[in-house]
Amino acid sequence: MFSGQDAVNTYAVLLKSFPKFLWGMRIALILAFVLHIGTSIRLSIKNRAARPISYGQNKPVRASVASRTMLLSGLVVLSFVLFHLAHLTLGWINPEQANLIDAQGRHDVYNMTVLGFQNIYIASFYIIAQIFLSMHISHGFSSSAQTLGLAVDSKWAIFLRRFGVCFALLIAALYISIPASVWLGIIETEL
Ligand code: HEM
Repeated sequence: MFSGQDAVNTYAVLLKSFPKFLWGMRIALILAFVLHIGTSIRLSIKNRAARPISYGQNKPVRASVASRTMLLSGLVVLSFVLFHLAHLTLGWINPEQANLIDAQGRHDVYNMTVLGFQNIYIASFYIIAQIFLSMHISHGFSSSAQTLGLAVDSKWAIFLRRFGVCFALLIAALYISIPASVWLGIIETEL
């Protein structure tokens, strides 16, 4: 996005020039997503069933805010991805922007994205969703490493927790930089 229209539209053509690979990835991602959401909701229900009467006093000692809000952040990310697909893949939100064609006859993904982020509500929703995504990843990373038995000792556990937080912050910062740069006039339309 920071390299401009030609870089993005060339990349988008590349993504779509291997339809078998693209659909393979899409099916694998959808399966992983559905399994992830299904098992997480099931786990959440089991957790609540295991403690029908909540603690009289709930003062968590070690549990981070991110770990205590995984269901919430997960649901925000789910609603983001559904909106995002409707917005930039299916073109349902701004059809006139989704059907733009560039000078070389290619789908103008670059201007579709920049024009989309000139809408303050869309840009704000993307930015807020990245913050929740970051919270979800910050705990999910170390928690999944623990589930897979990678946190072999406390040193590793600490390293994985810190790595997870840094990785999550990097993802959020990079993604937030796109709508924010459209608003700061760093990324502009090339029409
Ligand atoms: C500000 C951040 C983001 C921007 C600017 C962005 C941009 C885009 C664009 C332009 C497309 C359409 C590509 C094309 O059709 O050529 C796309 C598709 C997609 N994005 Fe994003 N994206 C962002 C964040 C995310 C995040 C956080 C996720 C996942 C949690 C995500 C998941 C997807 C998926 C699954 C597709 C569909 C790919 C396909 O067609 O199979 N995106 N994104």
